[in-house]
Amino acid sequence: MSRDDLAFAASIISEARHLIALTGAGISKESNVPTFRGKDGLWRKHNVMDLATPSAFARNPQLVWEWYSWRQDLIAKCTPNPAHHTLVKWEKKGILKSLISQNVDGLHRRAGSGNVLEVHGNLWAVKCTSCTHLGRLSDPAQGIPECPSCGANLRPDVVWFGERLNPVVMQNVREELERADTIIVIGTSALVQPAATFPLIVKQRGGKLLEVNIEQTPLTRTVDAHLRGKAGELLLKLDKLIGI
Ligand code: OAD
Repeated sequence: MSRDDLAFAASIISEARHLIALTGAGISKESNVPTFRGKDGLWRKHNVMDLATPSAFARNPQLVWEWYSWRQDLIAKCTPNPAHHTLVKWEKKGILKSLISQNVDGLHRRAGSGNVLEVHGNLWAVKCTSCTHLGRLSDPAQGIPECPSCGANLRPDVVWFGERLNPVVMQNVREELERADTIIVIGTSALVQPAATFPLIVKQRGGKLLEVNIEQTPLTRTVDAHLRGKAGELLLKLDKLIGI
């Protein structure tokens, strides 16, 4: 990573009128949250079809909840890292207008980010499989949690494979993609739709696209600047160059 690339990216951020961010599991890697793909990724060790689909839950809710409870326990012990904190600072300074995250770990909000659109839901959110009850767990699930309204099984309120994204969240995302003149994409493999298309929507409208990742992704050939390295380290460097 040359200083020139960083300086160029910093100048794009400084000149942006409506900067938004898209984040993926890589931004939480330095907080010790596992990513999904790559060497130690969750989908290397676990079968997505057994754990993150509506039919998997219908077949074996106990197994699905055990996996979510393990992740809740793991994430409860993690704390936000400098990449999360830098995005909070940029939001507070008025540079970053909103943050679209594929992560369910909630670390952006725990760091203090306000305008967060969690497109895949949140690991602590639950919804009833029978009635309209929505809730939040404060501790890792024990067994299969029951709905306080009707007694049916609760399920994690996260988006599983084959499911639609929350229409209200998606409407907000669409509006932000319309407004954005710059998007910084941090720590996503850009393989899962529809989030993988969000940066291209901004780019196709004439906006600028920055990418922070430890490796190349399908987006890399389209970006204005690809910053190769760890999100926490690079965001701190960018912040210094922006000088706010
Ligand atoms: P992935 O695990 O697919 O990708 C993580 C990305 O982060 C990779 O491109 C890594 O190179 C990069 N990375 C790893 N460590 C990094 C670091 N320290 N700094 C910067 N980049 C780093 O995760 P996502 O792209 O978020 O969906 O995956 C998208 C969706 O697939 C997830 O939201 C999840 C998963 O299945 C659902 O659960 C619905």
